[in-house]
Amino acid sequence: MASASTNDIEFRSVTKNYGAVTAVTDINLHVPKGAFLALLGPSGCGKTTCLRMIGGFEQPSEGTVLIDGREMNGVPAYRRPVNMVFQHYALFPHFNVEQNVAYGLKQMRPKIASAEIDRRVGEALEMVRLGGFAKRRIHEMSGGQQQRVALARAIVNRPSVLLLDEPLAALDKKLRSAMQIELQTLQRELGITFVLVTHDQEEALSMADVVCVMSAGRIRQLGSPQEVYDRPADLFVADFVGKTNRVTANMEADRATIRLADGSAIAAGPRPAVAVGEAIVAIRPEAIRLSRQPVDGTAFKGTVTHRIFLGSSAEYAVTVPGLGDFLVTADRRGVSESDLVEPGEAVFLAFDPLAAHVFPASAA
Ligand SMILES: Nc1ncnc2c1ncn2[C@@H]1O[C@H](COP(=O)(O)OP(=O)(O)OP(=O)(O)O)[C@@H](O)[C@H]1O
Ligand SMILES: [Mg+2]
Repeated sequence: MASASTNDIEFRSVTKNYGAVTAVTDINLHVPKGAFLALLGPSGCGKTTCLRMIGGFEQPSEGTVLIDGREMNGVPAYRRPVNMVFQHYALFPHFNVEQNVAYGLKQMRPKIASAEIDRRVGEALEMVRLGGFAKRRIHEMSGGQQQRVALARAIVNRPSVLLLDEPLAALDKKLRSAMQIELQTLQRELGITFVLVTHDQEEALSMADVVCVMSAGRIRQLGSPQEVYDRPADLFVADFVGKTNRVTANMEADRATIRLADGSAIAAGPRPAVAVGEAIVAIRPEAIRLSRQPVDGTAFKGTVTHRIFLGSSAEYAVTVPGLGDFLVTADRRGVSESDLVEPGEAVFLAFDPLAAHVFPASAA
């Protein structure tokens, strides 16, 4: 019996083996109804495998996947309230766009009136900005257009869960950000649960309300975009979700000390759960202030080696003797052109200790 559940999707101790390969290990995950979850991680970490187990295209080797409180073990894909947009979206090449999108609706029993099918197909094509393409054949569409046909096909029958495997990978940057907004709007309007697979951290952070960071078949952190960015659970997350600078430090009783080349020391980080001994301090490039004059706060002295001009901001590579290279992002708002620092200049780096994260050295 389906029990009343607040969890639309749940993984209970799910492990998946493909022969000798363990793709995911002991995944426990709750995706609340109506949430937008992003599975984020490097290639091969098990994202597609998780998605396919929700969709019913793979069965767990151990553990259980539940949808709406119902155990899904043995329930085939077509009996799940789920639609999936595959990483390699398979469209019917001999159908035109409209026929591809309408296919699922035409299979439904009881039958849907053809006028209603036409209306819904038109609406879905509008949503993915393919309004004028209904009669085009698939081989006459670009890769990005085909990807949007696959998306239209998946949303047309309003599933309660939509699984999206890298759905925007084939789109150019501009269309991609437009579609990111469209997808978010769609998700909110329809109130359905989205599970999006991506290896693009910007996409995960900008679209999802819960981000699940994975590596090597395991969950490293589950949290809001802000949580995983501002309070990464470990060094892997700190490095994968955004850029980070690492500095070797020494952990004293209640604070990490960064030892400088000249033997002096500065404090970093809030009191972390790190044992006394060697530690790694991770600092985001935008948490470091770069200036020509020494400023209040903890400071390193270094030399700019490279500058990457990014329009609204600039990235600097700064070498600090004894500590190595730092990446620093400087916002250019209100800064005149002449204030750009040139390679070769001596600079001071300062950061707020609260913006630095301390991890055990063993994690590196
Ligand atoms: N059918 C299969 N048979 C054997 N091994 C598989 C199979 N499918 C996936 N794997 C392995 O399982 C692991 C996880 O694969 P998965 O496709 O879930 O990764 P992913 O995170 O989606 O990667 P990508 O970002 O490259 O798509 C990989 O090591 C992969 O080689
Ligand atoms: Mg994949």
